[in-house]
Amino acid sequence: EESDQDDSFKKKRSVCVIECVCVFGYILPDGPVDATLGSDVVLKTLLTNPEYAFMIWSFSDGTDQVNIATQGQTALKVNSRYESRVSVNATDGYLTLRKLTREDNGDYSLTVVSADGTTSTEPVSDVLISSDVSEAVEHNSTVVLTCTAKGSYLKFAWLNGNLPLVADNKRITLKNADTSSTLTVTGILRSDLTGPVYCTATNNLQKEKSAPFNLTVHYGVTISPTDTPRYVRAKSNFNLSCSAPSSSPAASFTWFHGEKQMEATGPVLTLEVIQKLGLGKKVEAFSCKAENAKTRRVIASSNVHGEFLTLSSPPSPDAISGVKLTGPGSTLVAGNSSTNLSCKATAGTVATTTWLKDGAPLSASGGRLVFSEDKSSLKIQPLQKEDGGEYKCQLTNPVSSEHDSFRLVVNFGPEPAAVQGKDAVEVNDPVTLTCSAQSVPPASYTWKLNGTLTAVKTAEYVIEKASFKNSGTYTCEAHNAVTGQNSTYSHTLAVKEGDLDGLSDGAIAGIVIAILVALAAAIGLTFYCRQKVP
Ligand SMILES: *[C@@H]1O[C@H](CO)[C@@H](O)[C@H](O)[C@H]1NC(C)=O
Ligand SMILES: *[C@@H]1O[C@H](CO)[C@@H](O)[C@H](O)[C@H]1NC(C)=O
Ligand SMILES: *[C@@H]1O[C@H](CO)[C@@H](O)[C@H](O)[C@H]1NC(C)=O
Ligand SMILES: *[C@@H]1O[C@H](CO)[C@@H](O)[C@H](O)[C@H]1NC(C)=O
Ligand SMILES: *[C@@H]1O[C@H](CO)[C@@H](O)[C@H](O)[C@H]1NC(C)=O
Ligand SMILES: *[C@@H]1O[C@H](CO)[C@@H](O)[C@H](O)[C@H]1NC(C)=O
Repeated sequence: EESDQDDSFKKKRSVCVIECVCVFGYILPDGPVDATLGSDVVLKTLLTNPEYAFMIWSFSDGTDQVNIATQGQTALKVNSRYESRVSVNATDGYLTLRKLTREDNGDYSLTVVSADGTTSTEPVSDVLISSDVSEAVEHNSTVVLTCTAKGSYLKFAWLNGNLPLVADNKRITLKNADTSSTLTVTGILRSDLTGPVYCTATNNLQKEKSAPFNLTVHYGVTISPTDTPRYVRAKSNFNLSCSAPSSSPAASFTWFHGEKQMEATGPVLTLEVIQKLGLGKKVEAFSCKAENAKTRRVIASSNVHGEFLTLSSPPSPDAISGVKLTGPGSTLVAGNSSTNLSCKATAGTVATTTWLKDGAPLSASGGRLVFSEDKSSLKIQPLQKEDGGEYKCQLTNPVSSEHDSFRLVVNFGPEPAAVQGKDAVEVNDPVTLTCSAQSVPPASYTWKLNGTLTAVKTAEYVIEKASFKNSGTYTCEAHNAVTGQNSTYSHTLAVKEGDLDGLSDGAIAGIVIAILVALAAAIGLTFYCRQKVP
């Protein structure tokens, strides 16, 4: 039976002791057995009165397995090498080995063949890890570890330190066979097998662990700078360097341009040497190889290439000058126009072009902005009001950097207008109504009162002292002369009689009664006078 878990392994095993005795399953106690040189030793079994055809004792010194003795039902047959040194108890299978020598160190196994021909399960032994390589290069090497063991019904597992080593079936794969297991790690990392690595082989009798296995994983050889500048100034102190940090003893280096070896050694390849060899006038790949003097192992770096050396005349690119950022000459209207901006220099070879808008890097996102392949021009289509602003292009090469700017004006609007100001004031109060509408160029304003055009032509409509005739509906109209668009907003102003404000209904009634009483008195007085004076 098979099981992954150690716990259940133990359970299975204890079950097995009971079940398997009848077929001679678990027949030897755990080793090792210690004995003194020259003395006798008895190798016990766990058998109690087995029914067997043969009991075969064997010995292994790690390389060869030899038969010691075979106990048949009636006779014992002893290998001549062990003549007169061994005896086997035919009842319980105990092996007695006398006058021990150094050569007796090793593994002893017992095979019991039952009367009906079934053999016992062979115990696990000789669990060994071997590797196809003794050292590996990080990221580059594929390492194949093979675990082999002797025994029957073996099940293998791998440990990295104390942790189970699990196959991800991408970089790390495991393949199990009857008496071996293969662990393949592609693109090995230094962190993969730090463990060290162990292999265990298990059957229902035993579990054996291999010796720890260590693999030396070298850093690869690195060349720097990998990010080489596109141009290098002649006579500058530019150089390439090569390193192999994990080589011990230190590696020796050789240099290559393309496939050809250069007459250059040492970890640093200077520009001077490159020039002396007449190289670097055109684009070339450079690489180095590191050789470990002891192991003779050679590891190559990756290539460094690109247009990175311009050493022939002219030795360095011309300085950039006469940078001009050109924009449209025509009037642009948001929503309807498209435009091109173009950035050119009159002299010099441009290495990089950077665009900025209002000081921030400009990216061609959203699809409206498109750079030409060499980034020398920018197309915006359709233009929106947000596109207005200060554009800057910066042209750079290793020896110079120049820029120019262009202010792009995008006409738009007016956006919907709005009027701010009071909607009710008292007679003689000052009033200011302010009209605003976003617009490029700024809008011009006109005002209408009750639909009649006034003389006011500013954003503000100012009334120093309000009178009743200032009441009415004020309509502001914003007009953009470029786009030809208008927008309007109406605001109602009410001018009220200041003195009446605050009198209660009762007070007004009192005033009215007082007037009536006074009137009645005046009428009464008139009649009285008429009667008295004929
Ligand atoms: C063999 O083993 C049996 C049972 O363990 C024991 O009784 C017997 O004496 C042994 N025979 C010899 C010759 O030691
Ligand atoms: C990586 O492996 C390939 C093929 O095995 C070899 O040609 C190359 O030199 C190796 N690179 C390094 C850095 O070891
Ligand atoms: C394996 O590596 C471990 C940790 O680096 C170390 O302790 C151990 O001695 C090494 N064993 C062998 C056999 O090199
Ligand atoms: C947009 O442009 C077209 C022609 O290019 C013109 O006929 C139209 O009036 C323009 N619309 C606006 C809102 O400017
Ligand atoms: C912008 O440039 C492209 C290609 O250079 C050209 O086809 C297009 O007509 C130009 N557009 C404007 C508005 O200048
Ligand atoms: C405007 O109309 C309002 C009410 O409709 C009126 O009270 C006001 O006197 C009018 N103003 C002018 C200047 O015609």
